[in-house]
Amino acid sequence: MTSENVDNEVLKLSLSHPSATFSAKYVPFSPHEPMNESYSLDEIIYRSKDGKLLDVQHDMDALKKFDGKYWKDLFDSRLGKNTWPYGSGVWSKKEWVLPEIDNEDVVSAFEGNTNLFWAERFGKEILGMNDLWVKQCGISHTGSFKDLGMTVLVSQANRMRKLKKNLIGVGCASTGDTSAALSAYCAAAGIPAIIFLPANKISIAQLVQPIANGAIVLSLDTDFDGCMRLIREVTECLPIYLANSLNSLRLEGQKTAAIEICQQFDWKAPDWVIVPGGNLGNVYALYKGFLMCRELGLTDSIPRLVCAQAANANPLYLYYKSGWNEFLPVKASPTFASAIQIGDPVSIERAVYALRNSDGIVEEATEEELMDASAQADLTGMFTRPHTGVALSALKKLRQRGVIASTDRTVVVSTANGLKFTQSKIAYHSKELPELQCKFANSPVEVKADLESVMDVLKSRLPSLQKKNSAS
Ligand SMILES: Cc1ncc(COP(=O)(O)O)c(C=O)c1O
Repeated sequence: MTSENVDNEVLKLSLSHPSATFSAKYVPFSPHEPMNESYSLDEIIYRSKDGKLLDVQHDMDALKKFDGKYWKDLFDSRLGKNTWPYGSGVWSKKEWVLPEIDNEDVVSAFEGNTNLFWAERFGKEILGMNDLWVKQCGISHTGSFKDLGMTVLVSQANRMRKLKKNLIGVGCASTGDTSAALSAYCAAAGIPAIIFLPANKISIAQLVQPIANGAIVLSLDTDFDGCMRLIREVTECLPIYLANSLNSLRLEGQKTAAIEICQQFDWKAPDWVIVPGGNLGNVYALYKGFLMCRELGLTDSIPRLVCAQAANANPLYLYYKSGWNEFLPVKASPTFASAIQIGDPVSIERAVYALRNSDGIVEEATEEELMDASAQADLTGMFTRPHTGVALSALKKLRQRGVIASTDRTVVVSTANGLKFTQSKIAYHSKELPELQCKFANSPVEVKADLESVMDVLKSRLPSLQKKNSAS
């Protein structure tokens, strides 16, 4: 079939499925004992009657009326186009995300469709791997994977305001990235955003984003868990829609990163996917995306998931090490990976479900390990945040132990852009972190502005010049 024929075929198929065929609803997150309780996505509700988290459940029978080839062709046909809203990486999968929303109600910055970077040097030179990839979710509208979920949540909030639901704004507690995404999408839609941040615990680059986007920013003298408690109390008193990942709409957008990964490998799932985890919504979202691809016939396997935590904020790791015996929240200590400094994760049950069903693993990384791994990755051409350093450290450990084989196709999810974290990177490279060795620091050389001094430095730093000198 020529590509023109494929296009025509896809067009015909698209016309044959009015979006109204597909639907989704909230059900309690209760995979082991399914319940007869469900809610419309147009309701403002976050938990079931007995306090369980909610999950968005799609009408899989309706989706299954179309085979894997249909979905692959449809999703592929939307790539790189500007057609509203399907040019977005999230909305190109609209039927699997929020099938019933009108296109005019979607609030999108054409997020998603992020690069899958072949980490050739990091893989070959540091890990002896040839098939290592980094999913660059941070190359995005506000610089993190949070955009994927926020376009869905704010679109639904936009729809509910049009439906005259009592909703005066959208709010969240945040370790930085969620507030940036919420503020941007709310500003685009003209909806007030209310942000609760832990004072002095986020980077300046993160703080400036909600400020610039005109959000109401409250800087609170507590940690993330404290901010989370307060925003929940406030949303019980005021009609402010809660945008934390407790709200399962966000996960519907985030799961598209998994669908995209399969698509980028010509509809094959990788062997492993490693993701940094804090509140633990994202690891479940990715699992959901991989599972849908398999259930709907786009792929024939799901990857083994690895959730990587900072050792300073590792409640999931401790739970995993106990043989999933007993979960105990921890008081998270400061970590350079500040967005995952969370001791009492909201999505703990979702994460455990995802990990157990994907034969998953939990790993942890110390501050030294995560900062070194991030610096090493940068030295091979990336520009990573400490969070990606956590995931890369986990990969290094699993390679050392032989759990991940040299030929395994492995994807590390880089959740956010390194440009938001220049302070800790500068401190590392200037060796201003007394508790760390900063093994891979590369400080600028202060040198007199004359040719001889400059040449001396270049000779001392360029090995090829040294070889020439000793030969002559
Ligand atoms: C950069 C970054 N990485 C990872 C995470 C962790 O995602 P989750 O909280 O869904 O586990 C976050 C969450 O804030 C983040 O901002």
